[in-house]
Formats: sequence, C-alpha cells, structure tokens
Amino acid sequence: MLTDLKPQAPDKILALMAAFRDDPRPGKIDLGVGVYKDASGRTPIMRAVKAAERQLVETQETKTYTGLAGDPAFADALSALILGPDAPRDRLACAAQPGGTGAIRQGLELIRMAAPGARLWLSNPTWPNHPAIAAYLGIETPSYRYFDAETGGVDFDGMMADLAEVAPGDAVILHGCCHNPTGANLTPDQWRDVAALLTRRGAVPFVDIAYQGFGDGLEPDAEGTRILARTVPEMLIAASCSKNFGIYRERTGLLMAIAPSTDAVPVTQGALAMLNRMNFSFPPDHGARVVTTILTDDALRADWEAELEEVRLGMLGLREQLAAALRDRVGSDRFGFLAAHRGMFSRLGATPEQVEAMRRDHGVYMVGDSRMNIAGLNSATVPLLADAIVAAGV
Ligand code: LMR
Repeated sequence: MLTDLKPQAPDKILALMAAFRDDPRPGKIDLGVGVYKDASGRTPIMRAVKAAERQLVETQETKTYTGLAGDPAFADALSALILGPDAPRDRLACAAQPGGTGAIRQGLELIRMAAPGARLWLSNPTWPNHPAIAAYLGIETPSYRYFDAETGGVDFDGMMADLAEVAPGDAVILHGCCHNPTGANLTPDQWRDVAALLTRRGAVPFVDIAYQGFGDGLEPDAEGTRILARTVPEMLIAASCSKNFGIYRERTGLLMAIAPSTDAVPVTQGALAMLNRMNFSFPPDHGARVVTTILTDDALRADWEAELEEVRLGMLGLREQLAAALRDRVGSDRFGFLAAHRGMFSRLGATPEQVEAMRRDHGVYMVGDSRMNIAGLNSATVPLLADAIVAAGV
C-alpha cells in the first residue's frame, strides 16, 4: 500500500522555512513564513499570554474533554472581538478549530456538505493553502482579479467585474484584513460594494481573518467582516489567533457560520460539531482558554492590546523605512506602495529570477511570488534589503 503513494509537492512557504534554516550565512534575512519577529529576530510569548497561562496552571482543575465545538466561552469572546457589538448573535453557530487552517478546512467541508457543486472563488493571488485544500476536497476554484501589479493596490473594478459572475450558492473567500500575500486591502466603501454585490448574486462570503490588529488596529481591521455580517443573509468566517496572540503552535482558531435565520442555527451548529467529530473529535483547548482568559479580563486585555499595538506600529515603521530607503536609491516613489500596504505582508513585484538572485547573492529569503514578511526586518536590515532589491534590478 504505502509503496503506491506518490511524492507530494512541498508546500512552498514551509519549504522556504527549511531552506532558510539550512543556510549557514550569518547575515541571512528571513522574510518568508508569516510569523512575527521582534527587532532581535525572536518570536516572543506575549506578556498577557504568559500571565494567562500562569493563571490557568494555578486554577485549572481538569483537562477532560470539552464539547465537540470547544468551550462556548471562547466562541463568545472571539466572535465578539471580530464581529463587535452588532454581531448577529442569534444567527451565529461556532466551533473551535485547530488554527486558521483548521477553520478554513472545516468551512470548506461545510460548504461541500451543504452545497455539493458550489464553487469557491479565490482572489488572485491568495494564500496558497486556500486552493490546495479546496483541490484536495474536490471543490472547483475560479479566481477573481484582486491585485493591480502596476499600482501595488487593489484592482477593484476587475474584482467587481469578476464577482458579478458568481452563481447563487457559490462561496467567495475574502481576506478580512491584511491581505495575504499582497498587503493591499479594500476600503470600507469597497467592502460595502462587495457586500451588496454578493447579496444580489446570492453568494456566500467566506472571510479568512488571520491578522486582526496587524493592519490599522483591532477595530478597523474587523470593519470589512462586520459590514458583511450586517449585510448578507449568510456567511462563514475562519478566524485565527496564531498571529495576534502569538500562539502559533497552540493551534487556536474558530469557524463561525452566520445562518439566514435563528431557526437554521441548531442544524448548522450540529453540522459543525459533527464535522469536528469526523475529523479530530475535540478541538485543542489550551490556546482557546488562554485567549478567553485574556479577552474576559480587563487588565490582561488592556496589556494584550497595548503589546499588539506596539507590534503593529513597529511593522508600520519598518514599512516606512523601507519605502524611504528605496526612494533614496531609485530616486522615485515607485515603491511607495510598501508604506501604503497593511499587515505582515507586501508583494514586492519581483520576478522569480529576481527573488532567486536576492536569495543567492544577499541571503534574502522571500516567497517565490515576491511576498515579503515585513516583520522579518529591523532597522539594520532595511538598508541591506533595499540594496538587494536594487541590485536584483526590481
Ligand atoms: C503564511 O502565510 O506564511 C502563514 O499563514 C503560515 C502558513 O501556514 O502558511
């Protein structure tokens, strides 16, 4: 049996992580996987997370199973963080998931179960795991235009023209904020237009929100998701706590489904629980409990928000430094879009050959489509990256 297995193509982002690790050059710069790093290159445990973990160690009395959908307090706390005070709570079904990827996977399973044959529209480009999981589940993935390589912004006219083609019942993945891989995002007015169009077409938005707090702040970063939730009859949301709580390896995520009516909630909730049971039974709980502890304790929450804001402002500062360093070198604002982008990532617009040259000649590791993790920089490496970009002829 096992000898019949075919070799699998490596995941490009994870392969890049391994290549960086194996590079012996001391000056190498890691702009690959979406993990936050501070100026010294460490991925710290956030202060509030440490405090919540200590509290849990002291007070937790059992580690018996949770419910199949996880701890309801986690769903309440995280859905409130994302959906805000106007959340349609009476139409909401939720299930905790092993990370954002788990939430995407279960959301796609739910779509396949509820609407076999529904297509999944993806932005061009998108996080490579979206099409990969959809293909694995046999879901067709047409794409809609998103990134304008000329301006480094969103090709909104192209996006709307393509989304006008979605069929009733199709699902559309939208990045809630901090678009991965481009860093280019919709304005609130554009979100309103998308929400109206999808409602007219009878399509189901599926928001992937993995970087809330990394773009313009916790509230503005949730605005697009909230506009959709206020407008459309039904939608799915996959949320990750990996990045904004820095608990990557704890695998902490939530799948939310807004049903068209309160009557449809019990069946939706039952389907989410059943899918968890079929795939892994009970979702991981430690990270979820840490997040709940932080979000429901005023002091811990304030400290978490303050630290997240430091992280966000640090990345914004690096964006501005990089755009300025490039302006000095090329004598124009050609790379000004790097300062306008938000979140961890920016797509630089380099060719695969230029990306390879930067890796070979300067030890700069970015994903092959020229996605850069801005958090992989610090004030000392910004000029080195700017030199590498210019030397590669980008
Ligand atoms: C990324 O895009 O780098 C992250 O979401 C990590 C991953 O799993 O790909």
